[in-house]
Amino acid sequence: MTAHPALKDISIVNDVLILKKNHKIIRRMQRVLPGPEIHGYQVWGSSFLIMDYLLENPPKKKAKITEIGCGWGILGISCAQHFKAKVTAIDADEHVFPYLDAHAMLNDVNIATRIARYEHLKPADLKGHSLMLGGDICFWDNLVKPLFSAIEAAREAGVGTIIIADPGRSPFHKLAKRCQKAFGATLVTREISSPKKLSGELLIITQ
Ligand SMILES: C[S@@+](CC[C@H](N)C(=O)[O-])C[C@H]1O[C@@H](n2cnc3c(N)ncnc32)[C@H](O)[C@@H]1O
Repeated sequence: MTAHPALKDISIVNDVLILKKNHKIIRRMQRVLPGPEIHGYQVWGSSFLIMDYLLENPPKKKAKITEIGCGWGILGISCAQHFKAKVTAIDADEHVFPYLDAHAMLNDVNIATRIARYEHLKPADLKGHSLMLGGDICFWDNLVKPLFSAIEAAREAGVGTIIIADPGRSPFHKLAKRCQKAFGATLVTREISSPKKLSGELLIITQ
């Protein structure tokens, strides 16, 4: 069967519709809007690793979930879609949100958004949330301290599970070491074959 023409330049990953970079909506937004400035210009692979992990280890239905460094927010959108999660998507860069909003509309889910830096997150911002997630967010050495501070805030707020995923870069390993020492965090390797062959590591911090 041939796909509906409206699905041209759209990929479907775990039932989430994702606009490809050459989709006319993306091209139009790139033309008329200021672009994301801190690498939030596409969907990054580690988000798919967390998505895959959560499909196997699902949170409770309607859980409150925070996605930090959300970029286009595909991970949070997937949680809203699969688990009816109440998602808050946070990013330092306001320019990612038109892309997130377009995908939330396309997938018919509501996502709350907030402009904030990791280091400014306070326990009060995360109270009542059971999960904090982030894919491909620890890619510079100067992100280790801010992310550790966000993790501390989440733990203080009582967030039960924090999952950060990465292909395995050195700043991520620095963060992982600090979290293993401070909170007994675990590091789990994960491989997926869809939307493409990908492998990486999940830093999982529970309490
Ligand atoms: C590589 S992108 C990953 C985006 C998304 N998680 C994904 O997997 O597609 C990193 C994201 O982190 C955001 N970011 C970078 N530094 C940040 C900070 N200090 N606080 C909050 N967000 C930040 C960027 O704006 C960008 O959207």
